[in-house]
Amino acid sequence: MSTLIKSGRIVTADQDYTADIYIDGGKIARVGADLHVAADAVFDARGKYVIPGGIDVHTHMDMPYGAITSSDDFETGTRAAAFGGTTCIIDFATQSRGRRMREALDEWWKKGEKAAVDYGLHMIVTDLPEAHLEDMDEMVREGVTSFKFFMAYPDLLMVDDATILRAMRRTGANGALVCIHAENGGVIDLLVRKALAEGKKAPVYHALTRPASAEAEAVGRSIALAEMAGAPVYIVHVTSADALEKISEARDRGIPAFGETCPQYLLLSVEELERPDFEGAKFVFTPPLREKWHREKLWEGLKSNALQVVSTDHCPFLFKGQKEMGRENFAKIPNGGPGVEHRLQLLFHYGVNLKRISLNRWVELVSTAPAKLFGLYPRKGAIMEGSDADLVIWDPEFVHTISAGTHHMRVDYSLFEGFTVKGNAERVFSRGALVVDGPRWLGAPGRGSFVRRGTYSGAWDGKRMASPGGNMVSGNF
Ligand code: URP
Ligand code: ZN
Ligand code: ZN
Repeated sequence: MSTLIKSGRIVTADQDYTADIYIDGGKIARVGADLHVAADAVFDARGKYVIPGGIDVHTHMDMPYGAITSSDDFETGTRAAAFGGTTCIIDFATQSRGRRMREALDEWWKKGEKAAVDYGLHMIVTDLPEAHLEDMDEMVREGVTSFKFFMAYPDLLMVDDATILRAMRRTGANGALVCIHAENGGVIDLLVRKALAEGKKAPVYHALTRPASAEAEAVGRSIALAEMAGAPVYIVHVTSADALEKISEARDRGIPAFGETCPQYLLLSVEELERPDFEGAKFVFTPPLREKWHREKLWEGLKSNALQVVSTDHCPFLFKGQKEMGRENFAKIPNGGPGVEHRLQLLFHYGVNLKRISLNRWVELVSTAPAKLFGLYPRKGAIMEGSDADLVIWDPEFVHTISAGTHHMRVDYSLFEGFTVKGNAERVFSRGALVVDGPRWLGAPGRGSFVRRGTYSGAWDGKRMASPGGNMVSGNF
């Protein structure tokens, strides 16, 4: 099957020009002006942008949470992702305490069989005795080249600092990347217990017991550990100016510290948790929403490259029946919110349209930088001959109001209900196959494949990032 996309404005992290793209065998075969080549299907992209498919490096499909699971599985979640222009996700497999990483990987591969677009996996490590350190190398050989460690949730997921240091030493040697959920779990646990003892049980106490200083402290500590280990570190879901400052300061000293934030932290604030009728529970995720003033600082961080990636932390739970488990106690509200479908739209509208970031920076934040950091570049995150034909024809004029009534995520509410955005994915190609055509879904469960990722190695050179192989890529790095 061959496809020709004609006369689109090709926008990448560092280029902006008009050309045709010829796709053959799922790969970009040629890029050039006025290509005269016969193709099975031809699409006119005049007046539209053509961008590399979005890469969301932080999702939780089918994620166990006590007796329940997040409400999107790999089928519904990747379909929703594709409707929003995201053609690759990196989800999290979770090692159970006392079990080996291999078991988790096998379990998540099984879940991933239903994926409609390509997916990779990080490994959440909960247990890392010295004798099992080689499991990390085994994961790297399998293409799982990033590991998440929690500094929060003491009884469930948290590991101690020595474990993180041990892991960072290993990734310093094997080229993988340690990702950190940075919150001081011990302190937060104390605050939660105190609030509950005082009868403070409403959703807003979820946020009030997880202060920004508990986030910043853990970010600083994880960077110090990375420095000791001589390894890079990537902070997931950065929410606050306090945390951002720690990353900026480390980068200024030449430490390879990276960070992502998510649309909810850029656009929402802690007031949402005070909505009446328990509706605040819809906004219970971790770390929590902050006061409004933090948002502009995060936008500045995206612009200055103190933050490199926008992901979603898509972790949906139904309001009815799932979030409601915490009606009497905020600590029982499943933590997480939906978002995989709207990342590109929200960042385009509130970033590019409102002139906070450039068009190229938008592509860099949602596709190219995640591809480089997580070992997918230039197979993904690029429009180059030989890259996967994961492409989006983007209509910058399309106006759309986000609503749970029309979204494709399997969840009964939206964090962004009623937000009107201009700019939308019109056609989406996953390895050359047209999977989204306007409102029509043409994809299928199982069409997505597990992607074996390369290592992070080589993605850092002072304050800039190089493509694997060492070629410097111009742009914001
Ligand atoms: O509340 C959240 N973010 N749930 C997902 C797990 C995590 O910490 O990323
Ligand atoms: Zn986390
Ligand atoms: Zn998460």
